[in-house]
Amino acid sequence: MARIVLTGGAGFIGTHIIVEAITQSHEVLVIDNFVNSSPKALDAVKKIVGQDFEFLDADLCDEGKIKHVFEKFKPDFVIHLAGLKAVGESVEKPILYYEQNILSTLSILKAMDNCGCKVIIFSSSATVYGEPQYLPLDESHSFGPTNPYGKSKLFIEEILKDWAKADASAKAICLRYFNPVGAHASGLIGEDPQDIPNNLFPYVAQVASGKREFLSVFGNDYDTPDGTGVRDYIHVCDLAEAHIAAVENSQNIEGWDAINLGTENGCSVLEIKDAYKRMSNRDIPYKIMPRREGDVGSCWSTSAKAKTLLGWEAKRDLEDMCSSSWKFQSKHPNGYDDN
Ligand code: WQD
Repeated sequence: MARIVLTGGAGFIGTHIIVEAITQSHEVLVIDNFVNSSPKALDAVKKIVGQDFEFLDADLCDEGKIKHVFEKFKPDFVIHLAGLKAVGESVEKPILYYEQNILSTLSILKAMDNCGCKVIIFSSSATVYGEPQYLPLDESHSFGPTNPYGKSKLFIEEILKDWAKADASAKAICLRYFNPVGAHASGLIGEDPQDIPNNLFPYVAQVASGKREFLSVFGNDYDTPDGTGVRDYIHVCDLAEAHIAAVENSQNIEGWDAINLGTENGCSVLEIKDAYKRMSNRDIPYKIMPRREGDVGSCWSTSAKAKTLLGWEAKRDLEDMCSSSWKFQSKHPNGYDDN
């Protein structure tokens, strides 16, 4: 049993990690200020796990408060998910993204040093790689983030590298997510974007539920089998299991390391649309539109390093991603604030 602080725990990824952590008998303290999530998501988690857990509504940049709560909770691990994550918004508001994402991480690291917590697991992103120079992407691929969101992830990885180097017993595990989608089998927790979804899966879900009129397919002239963008979609429950695998196998990590979390499989926009239609039994009208600024044609991952170091690989398939997403969407047509 480990004591885990989960920052940003009320979010899409965080709620699924709380469920997995408690299912594996770990103690959690969730810290979230609901800037991009709902308290109702935590109520739904409690329904799934059938128990309460420690929670703190706080801004991670409030160093005094964070240090104090770490002294009291005495964490063995921190899973650091909190951060602003909209690519488009990061281009419009770069200073906000650098300030929030980097200062909150520094506050966490100071609180960890103050209470002797030595292991941080960081929510990084495949966006750090930029335009793939080869596929599948492995962790040795060059970096080339094209937006402040992705750059903030890379800057934080570098900060963690220096933090881990300064203390022989410190470990920093950067998990580079590809495209997390789907929902818990109960349909009680899932992805609930705050306004118009930027990402494909939640947008398709809202077209299926009738909330959006049609899907805009951003370009069909990429060098892919059907011309539409190809990505490595990973079930959020597989992603959650990978985080707990990182907690339970941290002895395999020396100092700082980065690990891709993907499925070694790429699916196109039209393949997602068709799979979602099959699993929801709903029509998904779509229109081919011009390419979206900053998109790459194809991107998918190897997961050899995750298998070796974490003993983890993705288990769930595209049908499960679509059916679980649809179960949450159909129960919550307007997200958590529905009920
Ligand atoms: C996937 C594909 C689009 C919406 C982003 C972030 C990344 C991570 C995951 C945080 C692309 C196409 C999309 C739509 C479409 N987020 N698309 N119509 O861009 O691979 O990655 O989200 O960590 O950091 O960059 O995901 O879901 O936005 O797009 O055709 O309405 O779907 O062109 O090919 P992306 P996405």
